[in-house]
Amino acid sequence: MTTFWSWYITILSLGTIFALTWLIFGTRKGQREETTEETVGHSFDGIEEFDNPLPKWWFMLFIGTIIFALGYLVLYPGLGNWKGLLPGYSYLDNKEQTAFATGDSGWTGAHQWEKEMAKADAQYGPIFAKYAAMPIEQVAQDEQALKMGGRLFASNCSVCHGSDAKGAYGFPNLTDNDWLWGGDPQSIKTTLLAGRQAVMPAQLDALGEEGIRNVAGYIRSLSGLKNPEGISVDLAAGQNIFATNCAVCHGADAKGQQVMGAPNLTDKVWLYGSSFAQVQQTLRHGRNGMMPAQEDFLGNDKVHLLAAYVYSLSQDKTEK
Ligand code: HEC
Ligand code: HEC
Repeated sequence: MTTFWSWYITILSLGTIFALTWLIFGTRKGQREETTEETVGHSFDGIEEFDNPLPKWWFMLFIGTIIFALGYLVLYPGLGNWKGLLPGYSYLDNKEQTAFATGDSGWTGAHQWEKEMAKADAQYGPIFAKYAAMPIEQVAQDEQALKMGGRLFASNCSVCHGSDAKGAYGFPNLTDNDWLWGGDPQSIKTTLLAGRQAVMPAQLDALGEEGIRNVAGYIRSLSGLKNPEGISVDLAAGQNIFATNCAVCHGADAKGQQVMGAPNLTDKVWLYGSSFAQVQQTLRHGRNGMMPAQEDFLGNDKVHLLAAYVYSLSQDKTEK
């Protein structure tokens, strides 16, 4: 921060605090101690105000906030370039947190966060490592592991897949044993580590509206959906288009191919909606669902645990 802005912030912050201090003492001056029936002399819509001193607890609370503010600004970096009196952290050294060891003086939110993460890693790392050394199927049987996995899922995955992992429009359901990219433990782990990028190419230029209509009608018929009345759909033409343009990814039987994340189109599970309009929209403009890679973010051990958790969601829970 330049010196100008540093002073700007410092003067503004301290000025406000001192102005408020002045205000509280200034307006208190001359007030009597005892309560009274006298009013301050003005009336708002007939409502008048007794000329009583501020309640003591309220006054003390106000003073308290001022002291807190000053203490905070001394300890933490809040006034321009002032770094605060609290030490910096050497978060790289798990055993001893030595101040200033990184050459970075002063408290920062990032340092605090990294320090806490390092502490958590030291504490939980061995537990994650223990599970990471076990096969995913076995981890998926372990109650404690599933609890930890559930918590990781809630904080890292539920924004997209929902807290019940049942997905939403564009975000696959992870509990239904229907998989875009494969549901065996290793495929799930690969999905999480490296992420997935689906490529369903737009078809409008190649097929035109009529072709889109026919092939949309055809694939909907594969899962038993009736096409809207009054719209002419040539199923045979749709089938031909499918064989030439779609089978290469979705398979000749339209049951999908997990190597490229091409979904099964015959199973009544629709990521982007099953209505005639929605399917046509998918075909016109294509779809590019993206599952973000977690390897750099969560690391192998946590991903292993999450893979076990996700795997467990679609396994038959036979006990009970
Ligand atoms: C290059 C491979 C490829 C080709 C060619 C292709 N698709 Fe797809 N298709 C995909 C992938 C991958 C997805 C998944 C998209 C996603 O998850 O975002 C997909 C998704 C779809 C969906 C959405 C399914 C749902 O659950 O909502 C439909 C419908 C579909 N394709 C139909 C077709 C039709 C019809 C054709 C031929 C005209 C076709 N696709 C050609 C790869 C392909
Ligand atoms: C930003 C949103 C987002 C987040 C966060 C996210 N996902 Fe996904 N995930 C997706 C999308 C979108 C797809 C579908 C990709 C496609 O269309 O092929 C997907 C696909 C998957 C699949 C593959 C499903 C299949 O049928 O093969 C799994 C497994 C998965 N996610 C698990 C997770 C887990 C576990 C987490 C938490 C670490 C997570 N996801 C976080 C958006 C997200």
